[in-house]
Amino acid sequence: MNTQNHLRNLQYQTILERAKHPQNQGKTNPIHQQQLGNNPICGDRIELTIKFNQTNQIIEDIKFQGKGCALTIASADLMAETLSGKTVEEALEIIEKFRQMLKGEISLLDNLPKLNIFQGVSQFPIRIKCVLLSWHALKAALK
Ligand code: FES
Repeated sequence: MNTQNHLRNLQYQTILERAKHPQNQGKTNPIHQQQLGNNPICGDRIELTIKFNQTNQIIEDIKFQGKGCALTIASADLMAETLSGKTVEEALEIIEKFRQMLKGEISLLDNLPKLNIFQGVSQFPIRIKCVLLSWHALKAALK
């Protein structure tokens, strides 16, 4: 296996592992906002709940529940982990950078290395939707 394939394989294993053992499933307490993300083509559905700080400027917690393919679940879980604790403005910036990486417009996210496991998906446009399902839902909730 060449280095490139080896790296892809490692990324794929990490995604599967995340999908099997997500760490951010459930609902926030309290729920300040909720948003549904759904892909009518395959039936995948993710329901996000969000808890903000008192001024509504910081996302204190994000949880998700629902069903989806391994990419959808792993991505929702990493999205919740990455964006909890961020300001709304920072979160929107990261969502945009992540989208650009998936579309192949930028290469890697140096300051968010965990998200780079999805970089290989940029070669499979049909799967980009899976990865972005929860991210689009969060963006809709924040706007
Ligand atoms: Fe439905 Fe992945 S197969 S979003």
